[in-house]
Amino acid sequence: MNIFLTGATGLVGGELLVTLSKRSEVKKIYCLLRSATIEQATERLKKVFSLHGDVYNEEQIVPVLGNLFDDNLTETLKHTKQLDDVDVVLHSAANTSFSRFNDEQVEKANIGGLTKILLWAKQLPHLQTFLYIGTATICGKDVTHRVVYEDESPNLEATHLVKYTYTKMKGELIIREHLPEDKILIARPSIIMGDSRPIMPRSPVILWAMATINHLRLIPVNEHSQLDIIPVNYAADAIVALLFAKRNHTVYHISAGEAGATTALRLSKMLSSYFDDMPPFNFINNSMLNQVKHWTKDRLAPESELYTYKNYLDYWHETFEDKGKLRLLFTGLDPYLGFMELGHVFDNTRLLEDVGIENTEPADVYMEKSMAFVEKIDILEGAIDP
Ligand SMILES: NC(=O)c1ccc[n+]([C@@H]2O[C@H](COP(=O)([O-])OP(=O)(O)OC[C@H]3O[C@@H](n4cnc5c(N)ncnc54)[C@H](OP(=O)(O)O)[C@@H]3O)[C@@H](O)[C@H]2O)c1
Repeated sequence: MNIFLTGATGLVGGELLVTLSKRSEVKKIYCLLRSATIEQATERLKKVFSLHGDVYNEEQIVPVLGNLFDDNLTETLKHTKQLDDVDVVLHSAANTSFSRFNDEQVEKANIGGLTKILLWAKQLPHLQTFLYIGTATICGKDVTHRVVYEDESPNLEATHLVKYTYTKMKGELIIREHLPEDKILIARPSIIMGDSRPIMPRSPVILWAMATINHLRLIPVNEHSQLDIIPVNYAADAIVALLFAKRNHTVYHISAGEAGATTALRLSKMLSSYFDDMPPFNFINNSMLNQVKHWTKDRLAPESELYTYKNYLDYWHETFEDKGKLRLLFTGLDPYLGFMELGHVFDNTRLLEDVGIENTEPADVYMEKSMAFVEKIDILEGAIDP
C-alpha cells in the first residue's frame, strides 16, 4: 500500500507517520511538506522519527513539496507522476488555531486546502481510501452535557465556538461532494492531549492549557463537566488500526467515550498531588471570566464578586507581577474553557467494536507520566500563539 500523508510534521500527523511506517503493508509514504527544498523537507521528516528514536527509512518515506495555500497545488500533484501509485490519501494537515485573528488562514487551509487535495485525489487511478482527520467537536456548542454520536454531524445548523470547528464540519461535506461513500473514511478525534507513554509529545498545544490552568489555580469553569481527552499515541494507533480494519461505518469517533472521560476536578486532584506548593484549585462560574479580564485591565467594578477571591488575586499579582501577562493567559485560555464547559462525551462504540482496541485510560491517570513535561512548559510563550 502507498500512502500520501499531509500534516506529517504535526502532533497527530507525526505520530501517524511513525505508526504507519512500522506496518508491513505500507510500501511508500509520500509526505506533503511546505519546505523550500527537498533537503529541508527531509530534515524535518528525519526529526519526526528521531524525536523518540524511531528508524527513518528513506526508501519508504518520500517528501513532496507543497503548501495548502498554493493556487496550483492540485496541478503540481497531478504532474508528480510518482504519486500515481497512491492508494490511500491521509489528510491530517490543518490550521488548528482557535484564535479569531487566524480565521482567514483557518478557512483557507481547512476548506481551500482540502479542496485542492480532493481535486487531485479523486482522479488517482488506484485510490482506495481518502482518510480525513476531522474532529468530534464539529457537533458545535448547542449540544451540551451528554454523549454525542457520530451521526449527529455534520449539521449545518450547528453553531461553533471557533471558526476551526466550522471549517472542519464544512470539510466533511465537501469530501462527500467529490468522492463516493465507499472511498471515504472519516476519523474524528476528540481532544488530544499529551502522550500516555512517559515521553514528550510532539507538540504541547493542549498541554499548554493544562499547564496554564495549573499555574492560575482559580479557574472559571465547571469542574464537573465531562472532558473527552485522549493521548496522541492512542489516537494514532486507533486511526491506523481503523485504516486496516473491516469497517462497518464511514465515520468514527476516536475518543475516550463514557468509560475514559475525565473532569477538570479529577485533573486538578492529580495536578495538586504533584504541584503542592501552589494555592488549592478553586473553580468558579465560567461567567466570571469577564470579571477576571476586567480585573487584568484595572476596570473591575468595586462591588465585583471576584474580590471574594482576594487571596487568588494576590497570588496572581505575586506570581505574574504584570497584569498584561495574566490578560494574555486568560485570552489564550478562553476558547479552551469554552470547550471544557460543553461537557461533550463522544461515543466510541463504533471504534471499539470494529477495531477491537481497548478504551484509553482517563487523562487524569495517563497524564501522571507527563508531569515532568508539564512543569517545563513556558506558559507565557505558549500564550502568544495558543
Ligand atoms: N490536536 C487535537 O487535539 C486534535 C483533535 C481533533 C482533531 N484534530 C485534527 O487532527 C489533524 C492534525 O492536527 P494536529 O493537532 O496534528 O495539528 P498541528 O500539530 O498544528 O499540525 C498541523 C499540520 O498541518 C500542516 N499544515 C498546516 N498548514 C499547512 C499548509 N498551509 N500547507 C501544508 N501543510 C500545512 C503543518 O505543517 P507545518 O509543520 O509546516 O506547520 C502540520 O504538519 C487536524 O486535521 C485537526 O483538525 C486535532
